[in-house]
Amino acid sequence: MHSSIHRIAIIFLVTFFAMYTISSCQRVDDTEPVGSQDWLTGDTRQKLETITDHLRGFDMAMVETGFRYSELYWAGQDGNWDYARYQIEKIALALDRGLERRPARAASAQPFVNYSIPEMEEAIEAEDQEVFLQTFELFTRSCNACHAAESVPHFNVKIPEARQSPIRLD
Ligand code: HEC
Repeated sequence: MHSSIHRIAIIFLVTFFAMYTISSCQRVDDTEPVGSQDWLTGDTRQKLETITDHLRGFDMAMVETGFRYSELYWAGQDGNWDYARYQIEKIALALDRGLERRPARAASAQPFVNYSIPEMEEAIEAEDQEVFLQTFELFTRSCNACHAAESVPHFNVKIPEARQSPIRLD
């Protein structure tokens, strides 16, 4: 009596594990659409291709850099050093991710990444508006040096004249 209960228990466990193993070996259907309104279709590879297309290349990194560059300028004008610190950090991040997507542009960006960003960070730490402005002029030239190196000299960056963002220090 006792041993037959054991046998049933063992058979049950073995069956359970066998079924579990078989079901986990079955291929998952990766063509199921995902996203709101199921916009993302195809197999996993196609979906990843679509997502990388939507993530875009270097242009979006530059749109972000352009915005943050302008914000950085006004932060310095305001003496809003915490905001300036935030913006230089995000410029570095946007550029780094952009270069990850477009490694062919990395060589031209080296002087900017290795010198201009650290110099700007130091100027912000000095919390001195005059130092900031001088460094900002060099920083701007460094943007344009990369634009020249990357054959887009018509993207001529100049120090902003008007604010866009509502962030300001009273
Ligand atoms: C790799 C070196 C490089 C550096 C450093 C760089 N840029 Fe660019 N920038 C480019 C390239 C290349 C483009 C053109 C983008 C494209 O063709 O995808 C561009 C385009 C732009 C655009 C136009 C984006 C658009 O699509 O409307 C702006 C704005 C811009 N850059 C601002 C800046 C500013 C401001 C700095 C400095 C803080 C800077 N860039 C530093 C290479 C660089």
